[in-house]
Amino acid sequence: MTKIIKVIHGPNLSRLGKREPEVYGNKTLADVNKCIESAFPEMTFEFFQSEYEGAIIEELFHVEDQKKALGVVLNAGALTHYSIALHDAIKAISLPVIEVHMSNVFAREAFRHHSTISSVCRGTISGFGEQSYHLGVEALLRLRENS
Ligand code: DQA
Repeated sequence: MTKIIKVIHGPNLSRLGKREPEVYGNKTLADVNKCIESAFPEMTFEFFQSEYEGAIIEELFHVEDQKKALGVVLNAGALTHYSIALHDAIKAISLPVIEVHMSNVFAREAFRHHSTISSVCRGTISGFGEQSYHLGVEALLRLRENS
């Protein structure tokens, strides 16, 4: 049984630690990734970050075609709120994708309340800081147990 989980971070998440620490905390992206790995030592993680919509879509197709991963934990950043291309890409693959957000997007500006990807993701986790990623991994593991 596969032990690989892909974690994809979208635009501006490369700036974690420097960017709005009151919203996203003080940890860098490398710190966040390291904490995910140490929380699930039995799993193998592949991390990917890009500022570009197309690169994220290519990565989703790459993970799907490799047929090695259990699923994807995706923080699409602001693309969440307007990317129809990302919606279509997630719809085009069969791997489960869990949508995660560090902040509670529903407690923020109105433009963050809409997600173009929620309807094609397996589920959404929002508002638990870096723990949102851990809950996303947990969700994939539960899905595997129940399949
Ligand atoms: C985010 C929320 C988005 O609205 C925002 O554009 C981000 C990060 C989050 O993790 O809370 O870049 O996805």
